[in-house]
Amino acid sequence: MHIDPLEKQWVQVVVGVCALFVGIIMIDALFHGVNAPSNVETIDSAKLHLSEEFGEQNLGVSTDENGHITVRMVAGRYSFFPKNIVVPAETPITFRWVSIDVLHGVHVPMTNMSTMIVPGFVAELLTTFPKPGDYPVLCNEYCGLGHDHMWSRIDVIEKEQWSTQQNRATGETES
Ligand code: CUA
Repeated sequence: MHIDPLEKQWVQVVVGVCALFVGIIMIDALFHGVNAPSNVETIDSAKLHLSEEFGEQNLGVSTDENGHITVRMVAGRYSFFPKNIVVPAETPITFRWVSIDVLHGVHVPMTNMSTMIVPGFVAELLTTFPKPGDYPVLCNEYCGLGHDHMWSRIDVIEKEQWSTQQNRATGETES
């Protein structure tokens, strides 16, 4: 079978570009924690306020007995709730997101946090904030006229400051 040399070259270019993209995806997935939220966990968006997990009193930051931090947040036109949360830097944190109405997205620049929040599903991801500061939380899926104004913030504090506060809250003293 005859293949024109010029065509052959272009085939090689195309294969090369594909390999480059697959390579970038692999490096991000393996070393930067960038991957698709793949737990296909369903939830009834219409009854969120009645659900155990996403009832108002359970939203925000919680720490389990092993000290792992989980943050539960609700996206709804046009904000993220709760409005302000405080978490420590340099600590792996599980975020669980649900939508109360339509499709939203969440993006926190300079972290791996970027996911769609699909009504009826829980979007879960593990992230770490590299350093203390005020991180903007932006909606990146068009969700209506107020989409441009749908944002919030996360207050990230020093790891040491966090543990001091935790100890104070539980009434323990550092030994
Ligand atoms: Cu929510 Cu755009």
